[in-house]
Amino acid sequence: MDESFITLEYRDDSLFLIDQRVLPTTFTLFECKNYEDVEFAIRDMVVRGAPAIGACAAYGVYMAAKQFAGLQDFEQKFKAACDFLALARPTAVNLEWAIVRMWNTYEEAKQKPSDHLLPRLKSEADAIRSEDIQTNKTIGEIGNAVVPPNATILTHCNTGALATAGWGTALGVIKTAFYDAKNIFVYADETRPRFQGARLTAWELMEAKIPSKLIPDSAAATLIRDGKIDLIILGGDRVAANGDVANKLGTFALSVIAKAYGVPFYSVVPVSTIDFTIPDGSYIPIEERDSKEVTHPGGTQVAPDGMDVYNPSFDVTPHQNITGIITEKGIIRPPFKQNIERLKNGQPLLG
Ligand code: MRU
Repeated sequence: MDESFITLEYRDDSLFLIDQRVLPTTFTLFECKNYEDVEFAIRDMVVRGAPAIGACAAYGVYMAAKQFAGLQDFEQKFKAACDFLALARPTAVNLEWAIVRMWNTYEEAKQKPSDHLLPRLKSEADAIRSEDIQTNKTIGEIGNAVVPPNATILTHCNTGALATAGWGTALGVIKTAFYDAKNIFVYADETRPRFQGARLTAWELMEAKIPSKLIPDSAAATLIRDGKIDLIILGGDRVAANGDVANKLGTFALSVIAKAYGVPFYSVVPVSTIDFTIPDGSYIPIEERDSKEVTHPGGTQVAPDGMDVYNPSFDVTPHQNITGIITEKGIIRPPFKQNIERLKNGQPLLG
């Protein structure tokens, strides 16, 4: 059940990442030597997936503090670096969450002798990384309860060890069910235009030897209509206070089809992906990415020169289409708004 690869690791004064832009054909590490490299790695999707970019940003904050240590205008430069990192990608709230957590650590540590600051920031980044792995293991155990024996599961995008500090969220649930001998079968959407499903989820499914098939995104509707899918399990990048979930483009369409055919639909997220400050999904910033991702998928031109493109990277699934949101604190079910409020206040979930 151990991971055979490490998504992100800080060693020898650098942050090393598996370069997810070139998987599965090439396995290579990308070295971030400073916080600017970390920002680039997040923006260019060397690393991607909400929890993984949060953990990387935490190391980016530590690296910025190291770069500016001893300067008179340290706080000004350090704050600018934090803001710069926070802008690398807008939708996944884990990025902001990790940077705020690191900033709060800084605020607390600056009251102490100055040699305390860097070790304190490093240990906080390490904690964000290791807590994420533990959180995902817990989520896997909790989510396993919704997977019936012999289930055929549909998933979208990549939510595995690559998208987190380790193990994965939705794919973590799938792996837990598989290792629990539930005899599952997985259909993985290819996830256009960047093919996180084809390139990354397919790779992780094969590494774990989970019986599975890769499908074009548009095949999912037919499989659902024909009763071939028992449940849909996928991730989330930002959950609003009413349970609306932003996730990879295509999630909303899947939720509509799942609802029409009565297929259970679960989003799997750590609590750090819940944005308690926004009332609903209309407040979630949706990243629009380069038109080249659509006109030149994988670097090969498929559309005529000059064609205009709309390329939102995420969409918002309304809570009415969601059966449950699986977290390390339990499964949030309707009434979502009340339950998310209860979770925020540390009260037991209803339903
Ligand atoms: O654009 P990406 O690849 O960063 O999008 C990732 C997703 O949408 C995932 O489903 C989400 O981050 C959850 S990952 C555990």
